[in-house]
Amino acid sequence: MHYAHLGLETPEYYVPGLPVDYVADRYGIPLADIAKLGSAENPHGASPLAAAAVQECLDKLHLYPSWTADPLREKIAETYGFNPEEIICGAGETEILSLITRAFCPPHNKIQMPGPCFPIYHLFAEAEGRTPVLVHEATNRQSMELDVDIYIEAIEADTRIVYITNPHSPSGTWLEEKDVRRIIEACPNSLVVLDEAYVHYSDTPGYIHLASEYENLAVLRTFSKAFGLAGLRIGFGVASKPVIDALLAVKPTWNMGQLQIAGGVAALDDEAHVKQTVQTIVQNRAYVQGRFGELDRFRMISGSRSNFFLVEILDPDTNSTKVFQELLKRGVIVKDGSISFRGLHDRFLRCDVNLRPHMDRLVDALADLP
Ligand SMILES: Cc1ncc(COP(=O)(O)O)c(C=O)c1O
Repeated sequence: MHYAHLGLETPEYYVPGLPVDYVADRYGIPLADIAKLGSAENPHGASPLAAAAVQECLDKLHLYPSWTADPLREKIAETYGFNPEEIICGAGETEILSLITRAFCPPHNKIQMPGPCFPIYHLFAEAEGRTPVLVHEATNRQSMELDVDIYIEAIEADTRIVYITNPHSPSGTWLEEKDVRRIIEACPNSLVVLDEAYVHYSDTPGYIHLASEYENLAVLRTFSKAFGLAGLRIGFGVASKPVIDALLAVKPTWNMGQLQIAGGVAALDDEAHVKQTVQTIVQNRAYVQGRFGELDRFRMISGSRSNFFLVEILDPDTNSTKVFQELLKRGVIVKDGSISFRGLHDRFLRCDVNLRPHMDRLVDALADLP
């Protein structure tokens, strides 16, 4: 007997990048020799200011936190020039994506996203009985850039949510502000969700300011990347008060613990850590691009403004799963496009930008493949 509602009898789950312990155990490789390039984590670890604030907060564990994470909401509002009522905090952006799906798209209506995209968008849509529409034809398969005209044409009357990811995942490609505005203005009856999880690596302030201009826009950010707090689980959304009020109504009441709130507040003051992280990523992105020039069986998709990039496999006699497995044997973890991103198929890998020795390991391993 199965009690889950329709669509959940054969659920599909998010496939995360492999952990280092798995590769160490399976292939007998020392942990220190593994290049973990499949989860887009921070190579410099957690913000030290956030880590210290979490330690100091341990004496508050018996107290319920503010259900709207007010100290963090207020700090985010002050940092980015909004009112606290225009902010929602969540256990990573991922939780806010789930709230948006439920609050802004009735069952059987459409949620539009580029194809390929961050899988959580379509996995949550399907799990909640909404219809994901991946607009594969709007992605140029050479440059991986989004054709904004085709993307806008795909929006229909029952499209309730339209995703934009900037920089995009898995490609790292970038949309100019005028193109983001065109999409927002093309669908006044849909909520546009601008996911800026990786915006620090674009070395621009991003487009968070647009949230005060458009009532049909929510901008999402995470503490998992440039602040190095993926393990603490903090994300936030900025939007007009009516949008935030609807999200609060479906939010699990105490979704943010004391440690998340304290860590997030402190991280926003840790400019030194963010600066060092961005510098490492920008420098090593250029470095690894140079090194890809040595390879003739692989092509790096250039133009990434993120801390990862796509690699196209040019050799027709192999595929992404075979290359992924061969890299694992050599202590290099990446993402196999055919498993991790719907519609990307078996010609692509997604690889993180990380410390220079890891970049060398990746390129040397690719050069060494049979
Ligand atoms: C595009 C994109 N958005 C959102 C997230 C989720 O981040 P969080 O850790 O805040 O849930 C990720 C995580 O990898 C991502 O790639």
